[in-house]
Amino acid sequence: MADVSVQPRRSGAIVINDDWPGYSLDLFSFPAHYSGDLHSVIIPYGVIMDRTERLARNIMDDLGDHDITVLCVLKGGYQFCADLVDRIKALSCNSNRSILMRVHFIRLKSYLNDQSTEDLHILGAEDLSFLADKNVLIVEAIVGTGKTMETLLKHVEAFRPKMIKVAGLLVKRVPQNSACLPDYVGFEIPNHFVVGYALDYNEYFRDLNHICVISESGKMKYKI
Ligand code: HPA
Ligand code: MG
Repeated sequence: MADVSVQPRRSGAIVINDDWPGYSLDLFSFPAHYSGDLHSVIIPYGVIMDRTERLARNIMDDLGDHDITVLCVLKGGYQFCADLVDRIKALSCNSNRSILMRVHFIRLKSYLNDQSTEDLHILGAEDLSFLADKNVLIVEAIVGTGKTMETLLKHVEAFRPKMIKVAGLLVKRVPQNSACLPDYVGFEIPNHFVVGYALDYNEYFRDLNHICVISESGKMKYKI
């Protein structure tokens, strides 16, 4: 098997090393309209599901018996948030520790093509006063430099929640990684632009199950 090392680093994420070439696309099914647009499968859908189940258990261990207000960061976070909430619900049903969850959605936008732009837009988050005194779980698909997360955390903190935890499916190893990392991390990945599992490139590839590295021709095809 390939070099996907499982070692406890940064909240115990699964660490995907820089020299891991990914799985060949021939080994998996994916929509034919994306042939030629992808370089490799970096995290197959089934592995995302298995890891999400474990993150749900970690969250349940820490927060079980509390009510949680989930803040889903759209658009990229919708799939991870839905699957994570599903797994927490299942654990909650099958144990005598239950979590009451309410789910809210906010939208962040800062990327054009594969580049982060300076101006971060937070939409649907103008008045988060309902977060006052609540246990908040922010659910994000991907954390890069951590700047977006820092800005969002500051914004949410201003509404005085009792506690804030962050679950991020992916943390990207970028040169300027900040100290601000999610409390629950699925995978630490190399500094590649990835798509699939609701992560997009100019709104394409959300309809792809696996997390894949986009190819140069894919970037050209969907460039704005
Ligand atoms: N893919 C999609 N969206 C993103 C990424 C990425 O690699 N990094 C930050 N936003
Ligand atoms: Mg995006």
